[in-house]
This record gives sequence, structure tokens and C-alpha cells, in this order.
Amino acid sequence: MEIEEFRIKAHAMVDWMADYMSNVDQYPVRAQTTPGQIAAKLPEGPPASRESVDAIMADFERDILPGVTHWQHPRFFAYFPANSSPPSVLAEMLTATIGAQCMLWQTSPAATEMETRITDWLRQMIGLPRGFHGVIQDSASSAILCAILTARELATDWRSNEVGLTNTAPVVIYTSDQTHSATEKGAKVAGLGRSNVRIISSDSENFAMKPDALEEAILDDKTAGKLPACVVANLGSTGVGAMDDLEAIGKIAQRHGLFSHVDAAWAGSALILEEHRHLLKGIERFDSFVFNPHKWLMTNFDCTAHFVRDPEALVKTLSINPTYLLSREGEGVIDYRDWSVPLGRRFRALKLWFVIRSYGVDGLKAIIRNHIELAKWLEEQIACERDFELMAPRQLSLINFRYVPKDAEDLDGLNSRLLNAVNDDGLTYLTQNVIGGVYAIRFQIGQTMTQQEHVDAAWQRIRSISKKIR
Ligand SMILES: Cc1ncc(COP(=O)(O)O)c(C=O)c1O
Repeated sequence: MEIEEFRIKAHAMVDWMADYMSNVDQYPVRAQTTPGQIAAKLPEGPPASRESVDAIMADFERDILPGVTHWQHPRFFAYFPANSSPPSVLAEMLTATIGAQCMLWQTSPAATEMETRITDWLRQMIGLPRGFHGVIQDSASSAILCAILTARELATDWRSNEVGLTNTAPVVIYTSDQTHSATEKGAKVAGLGRSNVRIISSDSENFAMKPDALEEAILDDKTAGKLPACVVANLGSTGVGAMDDLEAIGKIAQRHGLFSHVDAAWAGSALILEEHRHLLKGIERFDSFVFNPHKWLMTNFDCTAHFVRDPEALVKTLSINPTYLLSREGEGVIDYRDWSVPLGRRFRALKLWFVIRSYGVDGLKAIIRNHIELAKWLEEQIACERDFELMAPRQLSLINFRYVPKDAEDLDGLNSRLLNAVNDDGLTYLTQNVIGGVYAIRFQIGQTMTQQEHVDAAWQRIRSISKKIR
């Protein structure tokens, strides 16, 4: 493609993007296609000769768009948000255009130095104490893996990187029964084995990890000759948004010499609100902390902020120095490739820079605070609706509920049918949960454009569908 053609097509594309952002609420939220339907529209092999952008775009609109689930839809209430925003998209256009590979300071000094500065802005914004150093990872899963690998190396006195895990006692990770599967996956990838992930029970009221049970498990493992290495605490777990007591867990980790990590992938963004900072009490006892601006901070995927107390331990765990990656600056600069698993890295700090400057911290606070207010409103609606009940305490903007009409049998089946009918309807999109063995419908509010009318419309539709499916 010639540059002048690119200029024309790019202008048209930006118009398409702005129209999409304005009209995204006209689409069904979840793609209403069946498996294989989109694949059937794609030729089995690549074209030998060039095709015009107009032809490609026409196919995109006709064949591909119907298979897209619209995560930027203001009535998207499933999973956690992966919210985007206009300034974030603008920055992504620059990032893709520049196409820098930012593995070393030398391969893009601006990306490296901005990453250091912007992650420190984030640190200040969410109230993490000084002494935490930031790096942008591709996902919270990668950050958790890095934490587990560091813990493994510290626990085995840096031997496992050299000789593997063969001549050591089992290295054990502790986390609660509410924790995201990323921790178990991290333990598997780190070679620790799933059976060495100790699942600590949580309390039945708030679903927070029981500190006494944690300490008991550590002591049992020590007695059995195992190597307790790491505790992963939750600040906003995926199912019910459980908030662990960081003060209590951090003390236990310190007492037994365990590496400690906080998974705040979703809830971390809400810490920009002073009224939720109390959740961080005890954070100074932790070694590592992660949250995803790509979930709830108007910054499109992927963008994970990972903070560590001791970058040297992380770098010692991950660094490899083949000749072709050596650079003249040596130790005088940061080479972020040593802070994460992949070597290659995109210029992700740029979109945070655009987002934070475009909204200002106050603007970002207003959006998140509004989401939480909307969730409080929905919680009240559910609480006073006779045929519905809340299934867990609301956490920030996350609610779990179920339909409990009088005399109904098989409530799990009924709620599963309700959820499917709501999602097939297309007006909104929610996900399921199981709490204490009981089926629940999960509703989170966090899309950038979501307002009262969207939550209200979704709730009214849930109510009306519930009456029809009985
Ligand atoms: C609490 C929590 N931790 C970790 C993850 C994994 O996040 P990522 O997709 O960035 O790896 C998720 C994903 O939703 C999550 O909810």
C-alpha cells in the first residue's frame, strides 16, 4: 500500500471508528453466532494477489462484525470490563505506526523512560507506598507467573533456574479458594505442580482468606519438610470480588519468610478513589502487586501494571544475556526485557500517558465512582425485588444475585435458563458464577460509556425475561 493511499484509507477508518464508538449500543452485546459460522465465511487459503482495502473492509462489515462480541458496549456487564476509550485508541494508532520493539533501553529509550515514569504515576494514583517499582506486563497472568518464579528462586536459593527442581523439597504456593485460576496456571508453568498449590479456605460471609488457616497450612508443610515459598492474596477476586486482609496475611508471610503477591487485577483501578484506599492496609508488607489498567482504567488491552519491591530479585530470576542483546549502556539503564517473560515488548506506556492526561486523575475517578454508584443502585433494586436475592455482599461495582420465585424448584437450572435467555436476547451480556455450590448470576459495571440508563435497561430486561421463562 502506498503511503498516500494509506492516508486516505486511514481517514475513512477513523470515521468508521468514531461511528462505531457512537453506535456500538445498536449491536447485540454478545455475538449471536454459532460455532463455525464465521470460519465458514473465510477462504481456506490466502489470496495470491492484492485486494483493495475497500473490499477487505466490506467483508469485515458483512462477515466478521456479526461474530464480534462488543466489549465496548455500554450494556456489557459480563466477566470484568476490558474497557477502552478514545484517547487510548489514539495512542494505539501511534504505537502501531511507530512499531517500536521496546525490549532494551537502546531499542526505544522513550518507551523505557516513559514506562518508568508512568508506572510511578500509577503507583501514586492508587496509593502504593514508595519503594514499589513498576513494569508494564501484557497480562495479570504474566505478572503472577513472574511473582511465582521469583518466589521459587528465592526459596531454592537461586538453584532451580540453574539445575531445575529435581533436588529440592516441593515448593509450595498458598492462595484462597476465591483466587483466579491464573495462580494455579502460574504454579504449573513454573514447574511447581498443581498439587503444591495449597488452597486456603475463605470465610463464608466476605469470602476473604482465613489467616489462621493460612498459617496452619504453612506450619504443616514446614513440618512435612516442604518449602513454603509464596502467598497470593486477593484484592477483588473474580467471582465475588473478595478482599483479603492484607495486614494479617502480610504479617504471616513475613513471619515465615514467604514471598507475597497481591492480585488486584480488577479492583486495583478503584484504588484511585481515596474512599477505597483502606483496602490497601498492610500493603507495605508485600513484595509484589498487580492491577490491570486494561480492565477498568479506560486503557485498552493489553496493559498490566506490575509493581515489585525488589526489582533485583525479579531481574536475577529472568535475565539472560546473550551477546546479541548486550548494549553499550549496560547497567546504567533499565532494560525491561529482564522484568518479564517475553523478550519483545510494545510501547504500552504511551496509551496510559494519553489516557491519564486526557481524563486527568479527577476524570478517571469520576467514571469509576459513577460505576460504583450504579452498582449500589442495582443492589438496592435487587434487594427490594421479591423474586430476586443477592448472593454475596456487593464489592465495588460487582454484584451476584439469583432469581428465586416462590415455589420454584431447581433454582440452579432456572437461573441458568434465565442467564442464557438474557444473553441470547442481545440487549445485555452477563456471566454465571457458583457461590457455595449454588448457581448465581454475576453483574459487573465498568465499561467506559455505561450510564444509569444502560443499567436500568438491563435490569428491566432481566426482570421481564425472568417472568417469561417460568
Ligand atoms: C482477579 C483476576 N486475576 C487475574 C486475572 C487474569 O488477568 P489477565 O487476563 O490479565 O491475565 C483475572 C482476569 O479476569 C482476574 O479477574
